[in-house]
Amino acid sequence: MDIRYNERSRTFTITAGDSSYVIGIADKEGFIGHVYYGAAIAEEPMYLLRIDEPPFVPTKNNRDRGSFMDTFPCEFPGNGLGDYRDGAVEVIDAGGHRAIKLTYEGHNIIDGKPALAGLPATFETDGARAKTLEIYAKDEALNVKAVLRYSVFEDSDAIIRSTELINESATPVLITKIMSASLDMDSEDFEFLSLHGSWARERQIDIRPIGYGKTSVGSVKGESSHQEHPFMALIEKGSTQEKGRVYGFSFVYSGNFLAQAEKTQFDSVRVMMGINPQGFKWELKPGDSFQSPEVVMVYSDCGLGKMSRTYHDLYRGHLIRSPYKDKERPILINNWEATYFDFNTEKLLDIAREAKKSGIEMLVMDDGWFGRRNDDNSSLGDWNVNEEKLPGGLKYLVDEVNKIGLKFGIWMEPEMISPDSDLYRAHPDWAIQIPGREGVRSRNQYVLDLTRKEVLEHTWNSIKTVLSSANIEYLKWDMNRQITDIGSAELGRDNQGELSHRYMLAVYKLQERLVKEFPNLLLENCSGGGARFDAGMLYYSPQIWCSDDTDAIERLGIQEGTAIVYPLSSMGAHVSDCPNHTVGRVTPFETRGNVALAGTFGYELDITKIPQEDRDMIPFQTATYHKYNKLVRSGDYYRVASFRENHYYDCFGVVSKDKSEALFTFVQVMGRPNYHSRVIRIPGLLPDVKYVVEGVSEEPEEWLGSTLEKAGLRIGNLWGDYKSLLIHISKADD
Ligand code: GLA
Repeated sequence: MDIRYNERSRTFTITAGDSSYVIGIADKEGFIGHVYYGAAIAEEPMYLLRIDEPPFVPTKNNRDRGSFMDTFPCEFPGNGLGDYRDGAVEVIDAGGHRAIKLTYEGHNIIDGKPALAGLPATFETDGARAKTLEIYAKDEALNVKAVLRYSVFEDSDAIIRSTELINESATPVLITKIMSASLDMDSEDFEFLSLHGSWARERQIDIRPIGYGKTSVGSVKGESSHQEHPFMALIEKGSTQEKGRVYGFSFVYSGNFLAQAEKTQFDSVRVMMGINPQGFKWELKPGDSFQSPEVVMVYSDCGLGKMSRTYHDLYRGHLIRSPYKDKERPILINNWEATYFDFNTEKLLDIAREAKKSGIEMLVMDDGWFGRRNDDNSSLGDWNVNEEKLPGGLKYLVDEVNKIGLKFGIWMEPEMISPDSDLYRAHPDWAIQIPGREGVRSRNQYVLDLTRKEVLEHTWNSIKTVLSSANIEYLKWDMNRQITDIGSAELGRDNQGELSHRYMLAVYKLQERLVKEFPNLLLENCSGGGARFDAGMLYYSPQIWCSDDTDAIERLGIQEGTAIVYPLSSMGAHVSDCPNHTVGRVTPFETRGNVALAGTFGYELDITKIPQEDRDMIPFQTATYHKYNKLVRSGDYYRVASFRENHYYDCFGVVSKDKSEALFTFVQVMGRPNYHSRVIRIPGLLPDVKYVVEGVSEEPEEWLGSTLEKAGLRIGNLWGDYKSLLIHISKADD
């Protein structure tokens, strides 16, 4: 970790692990240029800014300023002054003009990493310190200043960027776009990797060429969304898990976002990531500042695998705060797929009693326990217990569950309001809406305008009252619709464009209060499955529900895409009943368990009703979880084979940091005749060490790490579809 300024060449070099990032100041005007990002280098190749080639810098050739502006590799481009590529910042000044150009004014290199007010952000720890470069840039005509921040940690290859804009003028400025990071690179035939999806099919890996013009993904749904994901990677064509130059960009934010690569006339690529400018407008009053969320950039010249492992380590070590992050999470049983809305105290206690016998540790009561909610048409906002279903209230139920020996967790959807609720009847204006229009319903519900103080306070009190009413040790915080009808009763004409970001700040404020006032609560975020599975949410909850699709085979793709960025310890994964409720597929109970063991692990079924032979497997699965969870939670992740690519089998695993132990999961999705190759190469082990391999043949086998990596293991025909193996590898005794 190092950040240094070279006075002579006017360059900043940021070193993060194996990567270097170089920024140069060009010309008397102080253009801030992007010089280099990639494998670590020891010099500053300023020639990459091409300031000595035509059209030169404006001091040498002002007649062609326009050409210079449109070709210069810019570190944080403005708008409206000759650079026709997309700007990273756009504003409207008091006269209605839209130009902005930020040039170098000064800098500071500081120890540590400043927190970002109101926003989730990576942080330093006692064990791994940070350094931050702040570059101050100014538009003299507007009197607006920007602070470009770059932070690095001692133990990571990641570089973290964010932008702050400060209005030093005497008149308001409207920000219409502010990216958190932008950089101009040579195109080098990169491909664009994104995580595409839908409800129940989140984060599927998609790779496409970067053609001329713009290649982008984004959300304007008020959440990171099922459909696109706040992550992109520029990857060298042909990159694999082990090979290829790969640049990852992950956004620490849960609302509207844009991730874009723009290939230009000169074969350069402008990459940017930030809050989606569509619909965004922020009034920056004199003296005010606006802080963007942060982007985590990771470079790997050893393919996607190293990039993923860098993200996993960074997010486990420097983003997730929960006291649970390094602990085994209780194995839970959730009643959603077991009962949906049709349950009562007796039913839940029956499940709890049976669950206890099999080693399950917590009962989570899902949707339907409050107001008059017997389906999804009513009662969101009325967070008082339905005593017809739960006589004696939460306290009685939770005490009984605790007596059985299980912890208790609960579901809430605090951000929502049903039109059919006492809350809506009392405060119809509390819903986000546009006057004169009937609000668009989704799952028959509206979204609360949490940007209003009284709405936020009321919502907080509801959460607090529920959590304080009994011994509740886990909360599943759901958010089941996207935002439409962008309108807040409190914002004026010029400020409605602030609503979506203000909304996210309000959600973060609520979750911040939650983690401060209930520090031992295990929080799991959720959004109609995995529509808010993002780095922003991980700052508050150590785990997030991955998807409403619990089918083991569908989960292979969902969990593979999720693990591109996020550690396995954060992926909510449960065993559910068959035929699967989303796709109707029947898979062996053992495989459902093996796939869910790659996440936080739990059950989502009526344990009193499933076949006895399935129930008999649960004690073994819960014991397996305890045996291997530390390894799964803290090890290095390796993707060995992908069913998405080979349409046949899937294989992934984790290797402990000290390389003494590993666990690999193999799923034969399609049965094929015996002679079909099923050799899997086990990466990440020590080459000269003998390991014991269990789970492939009847008897354990011993092989050197180098044999396992180079020759691999041959998996016999597992005979049938959806069969799976857990392969445990441990150092042999000397
Ligand atoms: C969402 C969640 C589910 C469940 C339901 C309840 O869809 O993802 O797990 O909690 O809401 O309505």
